[in-house]
Amino acid sequence: MSDTSLRFPERFLWGAATSAHQVEGGNTRNDWWRFEQLPGVIRGGARSGEACRHFERFDEDFALAAADAHNAHRLSFEWSRIEPRPGRFDSAAVAHYHEVLASLRRHGLTPIVTLHHFTNPLWIADAGGWESAATVEAFERFARFCAREYGAEVDWWCTVNEPEVFAFRGWSEGVWPPAVRDNSRALAVIANQLEAHGRAYRVIHTEDRTDADGDGRAARVGFAKHYVQLEPLRAWHPLDRLQAHFERRVFDDAVLRAAVDGRVELAIPGATAVRRTVPALKGALDWIGLNYYTRWRVRSLSPVAHVVPEGAPRNDLGWEIWPEGFTRAIEACARLTGAPVLVTENGFADERDAFRPAAIVDFVAAMHRAMTAEVRVLGYLHWSLLDNFEWADGHHGRFGLYAVDFADKALARRRTRGAEVFARIARANALGPDARAAVEAGR
Ligand code: FCB
Repeated sequence: MSDTSLRFPERFLWGAATSAHQVEGGNTRNDWWRFEQLPGVIRGGARSGEACRHFERFDEDFALAAADAHNAHRLSFEWSRIEPRPGRFDSAAVAHYHEVLASLRRHGLTPIVTLHHFTNPLWIADAGGWESAATVEAFERFARFCAREYGAEVDWWCTVNEPEVFAFRGWSEGVWPPAVRDNSRALAVIANQLEAHGRAYRVIHTEDRTDADGDGRAARVGFAKHYVQLEPLRAWHPLDRLQAHFERRVFDDAVLRAAVDGRVELAIPGATAVRRTVPALKGALDWIGLNYYTRWRVRSLSPVAHVVPEGAPRNDLGWEIWPEGFTRAIEACARLTGAPVLVTENGFADERDAFRPAAIVDFVAAMHRAMTAEVRVLGYLHWSLLDNFEWADGHHGRFGLYAVDFADKALARRRTRGAEVFARIARANALGPDARAAVEAGR
C-alpha cells in the first residue's frame, strides 16, 4: 500500500446500519405500522409492508456484508415483537433475535444493538407514548430484559436513536406518529428519551456482565445523536443568525450535554422549557453515536425554514452533501461529550448509485481528518445495508449499499458500486488507491 493511504486504528468497526421496522417487514404491532395505513402520510402511498423481508432473510443479508469485509453490523430489536403486551415477552420473538445474533457471529460481524429506533409497541403509544413517565419505566424494563437475555452475545448497546429527530418529527412537525404539532410537547419527549437513555445505561451495565467479543469489556453503552449542521442562510441577517443559534442549541448542543452532566435543559422561544436534573444521565456515555447526513441553512420568518443554497450538491431527498460538515460534527460530538465517537449512521440517498461511490471516499477521508489523540473514532456504520422503508419518504430515499427493487416480488438484492468502494476500504482498514480506483472506474 502506498504512503497516500489513510489508515484506521486496529479493531476499527466497519459495517452497515439498519433498523427493524425499515427492513424486517410484518411489524404489525407498532405505531408506525398503524400510522402508515392513514391516507396521505407516506410519500407515494408506500407502506413498510414486507419491507426487505429481512426478518426471514437476515442470514443471506449478513453474508453479503461479510463478503464485503464488514466486521460489524448495527441493527435494532423490535420492541413490539419482543414485548407485545406489557411485561409479556414473546418467546418466539426472543428466540428469533438469538438466531439473528448467532448469524452475525457466524459471519464475523460484531453486533451493535439499538433498543429504540423510532417504533413503539401499540400499548406504549396508546398509553401516552413518550410524553408519559410510565414509558420511561417501561423502556427501562425492556432494556433490563434485553441486557439479561442477550448480554452474553452483545457488548455494544445503543439505547435510543436520535431523540431529537424522533421528537421533532412526531411532536413538532407532526409528520411522523403521533402527528402532534406542539413544541412544548416535543421538548418533553426529548427529555423523556434522554432520561430513558440514562436509566437504560445503568441497567445494561448492571445486567450485562459477559464480555462477548473478548476485548475485556462486557458492555459499552451509548445513544445515537443526529448531528445536523445548522447555519444562518444569510450570515448578515440577525434573525437568521438568532434562529440558527436557538436551533443548534436545542437540537445539537443540549442533547449532547445532557448525557454528560445529567442536566436536561431544553428551550425554544414560545415553548415551555424543560429543566430537570436526571442523576442516571450523568456520565452515561461509553461512546457517543453520531448519525451525520447534512447541513441546513436556516431562514427566519419563512414557512420553509431549512433550505439548501442553489448549486450545492444534494442527494435524492434534497439533502446537501457536505463532507466538511462530517469532520466538524465528529469534532463537536467529541468536544461536547468527551466520549469516543462511533459513527452509527452516514449515507446517501442515491437511487442511481451515481454519487455514492465518490461520497463514501470523501466522507471516510473527512472522518479521518477529524481523528486525533483527543478525538477518538471507534467505527463507521454506513446507512444502510439495503434500500429500505425510509419512514415518511417511503421508497424515495434509497440508501442501500445493496439496492432492492420493491416492485419485484423476489426483492432481489443488487450490489451497488458503493458497496465495492466500501468493501475495499473495510478490507484494507484504510482508504487507499484501490478504493479511489474503484470510484474512478465507474465515472
Ligand atoms: C436517520 C434515521 C434512519 C434513516 C436515516 C436516513 O435519521 O435514523 O432510520 O431513516 O435517517
